[in-house]
Amino acid sequence: MEIIIKASVAEAQDEAARIMAAQIRTKPASVLGLATGSTPIGVYQLLAEFHRAGRLDFSKVITFNLDEYVVLTPNHPQAYREFMRQHLFSKVNIAADRIHFPDGLAADVPAHCEDYEAAIRRVGGIDLQLLGIGSDGHIGFNEPSSSLASRTRIKTLTPRTVKDNARFFPHANEVPRHVITMGVGTIMDAHACLMLATGESKAEAVAGMVEGPITADLPASILQMHPRCKLVLDEPAAAKLRRAEYYRWIYENKPIWQRV
Ligand code: F6R
Repeated sequence: MEIIIKASVAEAQDEAARIMAAQIRTKPASVLGLATGSTPIGVYQLLAEFHRAGRLDFSKVITFNLDEYVVLTPNHPQAYREFMRQHLFSKVNIAADRIHFPDGLAADVPAHCEDYEAAIRRVGGIDLQLLGIGSDGHIGFNEPSSSLASRTRIKTLTPRTVKDNARFFPHANEVPRHVITMGVGTIMDAHACLMLATGESKAEAVAGMVEGPITADLPASILQMHPRCKLVLDEPAAAKLRRAEYYRWIYENKPIWQRV
């Protein structure tokens, strides 16, 4: 895992956006796995700015979002489809038929989940998967105890995640209890992963993910097994890493050709 520690949230977002932009420039028809939540908002803003400045073309990009709430209508203000429309898709030149989400209204959820997996396979897999991390170590909405080999399926959120996400809803009771999420195995199949984590509320989960044992108790820890995973942090999110100085040393001494 490549660990990049930046001095501020803005610098961490900038680094993540530059990695994503480099992916799209290298392969214009990139398949991107996308995340929602508060962490990537700044990254999407930067990608939209690059596009507005004529420096980034999304016309061939294909996207698959990690997850969607079950039962929220697609245009519900808190539906992840609406989140993505607001923060990225309405601001760049991506065609609607290249955008994919799990369908929180699917009548046959298992069949829909299989279709989602098949759609990812049909386009050759995800080139770059953007990830955030939950304070309990979830990726996508693979909560602690999720199988590390899991595929796209329905999951029940933990009370802690419901509480974390309540800030987006008028009342905690309105946070859906279920989501459809790519599985841990689905995420691990991505050719490359990029996780952005910022703020002290993520420090413990980040330390467990990087320096703890690989365990379903902290699903993000499976990323230790991913051959191409970058983790971009700000200082507060990196605060509990035992080897933070070493990670900084590696980054500072990187050969120029290895940088984005
Ligand atoms: C969202 C997702 C989640 C979030 C995580 C962190 O699509 O997959 O795993 O990345 O819950 O959320 P924030 O960024 O709001 O702290």
